[in-house]
Amino acid sequence: MKTDWVDLSFQLFPGGSFGEFNLPREFSTVLSHGKGARLYDVYGKEFIDVSLSWGSVILGHAHPAVTEAVRHQIERGSSFSYVNDVALRLAEEMVRAIPCAEKVRFAASGTEATFYALRFAKAYTGKSKILKFEGAYHGAHDVGVMSLFPKRLLPYPLPEPTSAGVSKTVEEEVLIAPYNDLETTQRIIDRYSDELACVIMEPLQRCTPPMVGFLEGIRKITKERGIVLIFDEVVTGFRLAYGGAQEYYGVTPDLAAFGKALGGGYPIGAICGRAELMDRCTEANLGQEGYVWFASTLAGNPVSAAASLATLGELRRPGTYERFHALGRMLREGFKSLLEELRIPCQVLGDGPLCQVAFTDEPVKDYRSAFRADRQKGREFALGLFREGIFLNPMGTKLYLSRAHTDEDIGAMLEISRSVLRRVFP
Ligand SMILES: Cc1ncc(COP(=O)(O)O)c(C=O)c1O
Repeated sequence: MKTDWVDLSFQLFPGGSFGEFNLPREFSTVLSHGKGARLYDVYGKEFIDVSLSWGSVILGHAHPAVTEAVRHQIERGSSFSYVNDVALRLAEEMVRAIPCAEKVRFAASGTEATFYALRFAKAYTGKSKILKFEGAYHGAHDVGVMSLFPKRLLPYPLPEPTSAGVSKTVEEEVLIAPYNDLETTQRIIDRYSDELACVIMEPLQRCTPPMVGFLEGIRKITKERGIVLIFDEVVTGFRLAYGGAQEYYGVTPDLAAFGKALGGGYPIGAICGRAELMDRCTEANLGQEGYVWFASTLAGNPVSAAASLATLGELRRPGTYERFHALGRMLREGFKSLLEELRIPCQVLGDGPLCQVAFTDEPVKDYRSAFRADRQKGREFALGLFREGIFLNPMGTKLYLSRAHTDEDIGAMLEISRSVLRRVFP
């Protein structure tokens, strides 16, 4: 009997998905393979992929250099849970590339990386509160989902958990500030400075760029008050620039978390930063005050490390980042002129190879201004694109471009967008 793949996926996976890919059943599909900037489903449909495994596959699917490095490594063993030459080479490259990196610990995902960064900050300062920006995502742990998609828009700094099952204690520990609002953030930091261990932030929050002086301001206040600054570079790392957002914006945090693009499509996470903080997890200190427990069975596995080294090798090729920025600009400017031509009020967000469209005539600078956009139209647009063969996550609607995308792909996406927009805004 022929398998009905979508039926089976709804039978076996809650919501027919792996999580946070909120497609209605009639849009759902099951993928079979990917190559370059294309994904293919089991029914033979081809998509232009702008989800890129949520940004992981920065060179495109099944890049020959990455595939070859993985093939070579799997013959030599897949995981040792111990220091190995491949992971060591990777750490060396990270320290070379990332301004804040003096030491590195590997993890298996971005969630794990930010989780540990927060723990390091608390252990180092002996304080327990965390300041997070409204609408930022730092992974699936309790802190990461605090005020991720808040609906009640409580007064700052009160958090609103986006998931049930979150610890009450964590809720009490997290303070929420508005991104790009230095004055309000400074007021919260001043008020809680004695209890505040760290500020964690996406330097480019989702697709909203930092306003002039915002990152510098946060760096200055945190440094003055002995508060650890964590950059969550899970999205921006190796994407905005080889040295991540910290190189791109010229602001160096104390700790940074990486994932996604670092692994080139293979599971990885990494925390790096000042040695003084990172050394908290030295095992010889077990049992002593301030010791950070750190363990992750598959962390530093040589297959992901080999994929990562191959990916970074490709990213270091001359012209890569110029190309990423040019591609992103082409898509953003294409959207701007298209939406202007169709007289649809919108803001086109993003930087580097990232792009997002918000249907509002108000400039988007933080979660609340994005929240006021016409999100219903946004969803109809995303689903329309999906139906027409553009593979994107309709939850976030952040579009990721890879090294494999061509100018023709951008042209095709804009053409498809034109017809979808005409239907969504008749
Ligand atoms: C900024 C940011 N941090 C952390 C994470 C969590 O990474 P992972 O899904 O690898 O756990 C994500 C995932 O989307 C992210 O966008």
